[in-house]
Amino acid sequence: MLYRIQKVGEKLEVPRSTIRYWEKEFPQLVNPKRTNGGQRRYSEQDINNLQKIKNLLHHKKRTIDQARIILKQGNVDVGKIDWTKQSILITGGTGSFGKYFCKIMLEKYHPKVIRIYSRDELKQHEMRQKFGEEKLRYFIGDVRDVERLKRAMEGVDIVVHAAALKQVPACEYNPLEAVKTNIYGAQNIIDAAIDIGVKKVVALSTDKAVNPVNLYGATKLCSDKIFIHGNSYAGQKRTRFSCVRYGNVIGSRGSVIPLFMQQKKNGRITITDERMTRFWLTLDQAVYLVTNAFCLMQGGEIFVPKIPSMKVTDLAKAIAPECEIEIIGIRPGEKIHEVLITEEDGRNTVAYNGIYVIMPNLSWWERQNYKTGQRLPEGFVYTSNTNDTWLNVEDLRRIVYESYTVEEAPASRLLSTIHQLEESKIHYHCNLAAN
Ligand SMILES: NC(=O)c1ccc[n+]([C@@H]2O[C@H](COP(=O)([O-])OP(=O)(O)OC[C@H]3O[C@@H](n4cnc5c(N)ncnc54)[C@H](OP(=O)(O)O)[C@@H]3O)[C@@H](O)[C@H]2O)c1
Repeated sequence: MLYRIQKVGEKLEVPRSTIRYWEKEFPQLVNPKRTNGGQRRYSEQDINNLQKIKNLLHHKKRTIDQARIILKQGNVDVGKIDWTKQSILITGGTGSFGKYFCKIMLEKYHPKVIRIYSRDELKQHEMRQKFGEEKLRYFIGDVRDVERLKRAMEGVDIVVHAAALKQVPACEYNPLEAVKTNIYGAQNIIDAAIDIGVKKVVALSTDKAVNPVNLYGATKLCSDKIFIHGNSYAGQKRTRFSCVRYGNVIGSRGSVIPLFMQQKKNGRITITDERMTRFWLTLDQAVYLVTNAFCLMQGGEIFVPKIPSMKVTDLAKAIAPECEIEIIGIRPGEKIHEVLITEEDGRNTVAYNGIYVIMPNLSWWERQNYKTGQRLPEGFVYTSNTNDTWLNVEDLRRIVYESYTVEEAPASRLLSTIHQLEESKIHYHCNLAAN
């Protein structure tokens, strides 16, 4: 059946001039036949497509170009990923997260290949000794070098961006180096991924990027913004960018545990402020959060795990109960409590499948994927001091002494630690089951 333009206008409740305009802008979707006298006749398919166009444009702050992209691409693939068909590149693959990510991937998910991208050949050599070469490829490269990134991304489906300068004092002392790696590096990842046609990119963020008080946090905040808006740069290409944001990782390089372990030998632990609290998660949880993010992402989200908090004084008691604690005063660029979700972010956040999803406030963004997510109450903030889940001294002792050499520990042992904690009513809601 074919319809006259007047009938179509009535059905869609838009003027005829609007229909003609949409027809001109979306010729592939709306292509009415012409009668011998040159009058338009619209098919059911034309009308369905006009309805979709109307849904995207009518009373919405979207441009024609944005609507074209959405209509062309539809929703990006969500749901379970067949990792055996994926070629992965991980920047910062030799770091704490990167090594553990590779370990879990190789043990559980069996991707086609993982490319490690980092600068230091010694760290890569050590990793090669440990992991071998069968499924891993080692690329020396700097995230500041976009041409090298493009070469390394050839044929890659998925990119995990973990490379960063992350030591607060080093970033303060070398601010432009932090900017080059953490901010220009992010730009390069986006440019390379779009040009090469990578499907999905997840960048690792940190609680220090929220209301930042140091340069590390500020550069990571810029990086987050660049990744979220990287989706707009993708234009007609399918590349999608999202972030995961979490707090301190137990036992990662440069974390407080190795410091306390060292100080324990001298019988004295230093703490900057006795009120200090921090979010805490294990490397397992960080890896599962990232794999989950790849399954869920439409592009533009920041995924935040529900993780417990701890008092730094409790951590000191757990590691070295016999030691004297000395309070040395808060350092520049240090916060007493950390934040994962601000009140402003909270308005765009849903609790979904045991994690929080901060959705982008972008006019073109479709929220189809989180319809069943629960909105957060007005005024909700997620801070390390107001968290409803805490690790006490005993929990911390068990975690630290069972997973201190966390990069070396078999995944099964770490998982069992988490499960034991779950049993003891400490909830890690990181959606382990979904994987
Ligand atoms: N650890 C935590 O507690 C924590 C918490 C929240 C978020 N994060 C985030 O998680 C990510 C990974 O952290 P991590 O603990 O695994 O860090 P890490 O152990 O310090 O590893 C950093 C990695 O990045 C590489 N890298 C540094 N600069 C680079 C550059 N310019 N080009 C290429 N590679 C570079 C390093 O290798 P080379 O030096 O050989 O290049 C190394 O492989 C970071 O983005 C960090 O901000 C970490």
